Amino acid sequence: MSSVGIEAIGLAVPPTYVDMVDLARARNVEPSKYLEGIGTTRMAVALPDEDTVTLAARAAQAALASAAISPDAIGLLAVGTETGVDHSKPVASYVQSLVGIGRRCRVFETKHACYGGTAALQLALDWIRSGSAAGQKALVICSDIARYGLHTAGEPTQGAGAVAILVSDDPKLVSLEPHKTGIYAHDVHDFWRPLYSKDAFVDGPYSVQCYLDALAGAYQHFRDKNPGVTSDAFAALAYHVPYGKMARKAHRHLRSLDGDPTPDATFDRLVASSLSLCAQVGNIYTGSLYLALTSTLATSPTPLDGQRIGLFSYGSGSCAEFFAGTVTPGAQDRVRALDLPALLDARRQVSIAEYEQVMAERESIDQRPLGAPAGPALRYLGVDANKRVYQPAG
Ligand code: HMG
Repeated sequence: MSSVGIEAIGLAVPPTYVDMVDLARARNVEPSKYLEGIGTTRMAVALPDEDTVTLAARAAQAALASAAISPDAIGLLAVGTETGVDHSKPVASYVQSLVGIGRRCRVFETKHACYGGTAALQLALDWIRSGSAAGQKALVICSDIARYGLHTAGEPTQGAGAVAILVSDDPKLVSLEPHKTGIYAHDVHDFWRPLYSKDAFVDGPYSVQCYLDALAGAYQHFRDKNPGVTSDAFAALAYHVPYGKMARKAHRHLRSLDGDPTPDATFDRLVASSLSLCAQVGNIYTGSLYLALTSTLATSPTPLDGQRIGLFSYGSGSCAEFFAGTVTPGAQDRVRALDLPALLDARRQVSIAEYEQVMAERESIDQRPLGAPAGPALRYLGVDANKRVYQPAG
C-alpha cells in the first residue's frame, strides 16, 4: 500500500478566552510568569453550552469540510478524550449523529489521559494499512476541556478544544511512518481524575519529571528501531504541549539525549512554530500534540515540503509514543488556507469574574436543566430524563 497518514485536520475552540495578564493580576502573580514561565497568552474557556461533544462535532465538521468529503466515507470514528460525558456511552456516538456519519462504521472512545487520541490514531493507521478499511477513511477526534480548579498551580495550564484528524491512504498533509514508532508506558500517579471529581489532581513537578522520563524512554525505543537516527533527521518537532514551557524542556532533554552540548540552540528553528496556536488556547489534553502539529504547518516560515517531522505524545499515568512522518508537498498551503489565526482572533475575551462564574456553573454541567434552542450554532442544551440533548448546527 502507498503511504497512509493525515488527509485533513479540523480545529474547534470555544469562542471565549481569558487573557493571561488578567488572570495573573487576579492571582497576584507577575504576568511574566504566565506569559513566559508557563508560555500561554490566552486560555480558552468553554461556556456551559459547550462540552467535549460539541467541540468534537465542530472539529469533525471542519475536517470533513476541509477535505470536501461526505460523512459516508467514514468507516471508523474514534474520539480520544479524558473528559468524556458518560461512563458508558461514548462521545463518538453523539458525534456520529450530530455529524451524520452512517451506520456501517466502528464508533468508539479511547482513553489514556492525553495519549488517548494517539492510541486511536495508531489504531486507525493500522486499520487502513491492513486493508480492512477497504477504501474507507477514519475520523479520529481528540477533544477535551482541561480543568484544575481556581487558585491551584495548574489553573494557568487549563484550556479547551478539539482537533479532528481525517486518516486515509491519501495523506494530503502528513504521511506517518509505519512499524518504527517508539513506545514507553509506566504506571505512575502524576496526574489523575477520580470518577467523583470535575477537577484533575496533579503532582505538578513530578508530572514534569514523568513526562521527561517517558520522552527519554520512547525516544530511545524509536532510536533502537531506527539505528543511527538523531533529531537532526527532522525539519520540525512537535511535542505534547500541556503548556509552552514544557515543550521547551522536552526539546532541551531530547537534544541532550542526542549529545548536543547546546540543546536550546535549535529550539526556534525546530519547535517555536508549534507553539504559536497552543499559546493562545492552553492545554487541550488529547489534542495538544495535534494542535502543535497544526500550528507548525500553519505558521512555520520554513518550507517543509517532503521534510521529516518528529512527534511526541505523552499521556499521564502513563503512556508515551515518539513517531515520525513526512510533510506532503502543499500541506502548509492547505493548512494556511484554513486561516486558523483568524479563528482564534475572532474569539471574545471574558473577564475574570465571568470566567469564575463559568467555572462554578460547569460544576453541575452534567445535570444542566434543559434550555431552549437558540441561534444557529451547535450547542449543548442540557439534560432531559438523564439524557444529554444537543442542538445541531442550523
Ligand atoms: P508552578 O508552581 O507555577 O511552578 O507550577 P514554578 O513556580 O516552578 O513556575 C513555573 C515556571 O515559571 C518556572 O520555569 C519558573 O522559573 C517560571 P521553569 O523553572 O520550569 O523553567 N517563572 C517565571 N518566569 C518568568 N517571569 C516570572 C516567573 N516566575 C516564575 N516572573 C506547573 C507549574 C506546570 C507544575 C503547574 O502549572 C501544574 O501543575 N500544571 C499541571 C500539570 C502539568 O501541566 N504537567 C506537565 C507534564 S504532565 C502532562 O503533560 C500531562 C497532562 O497534559 C495531562 C494528561 O496527560 O492528561 C498534564
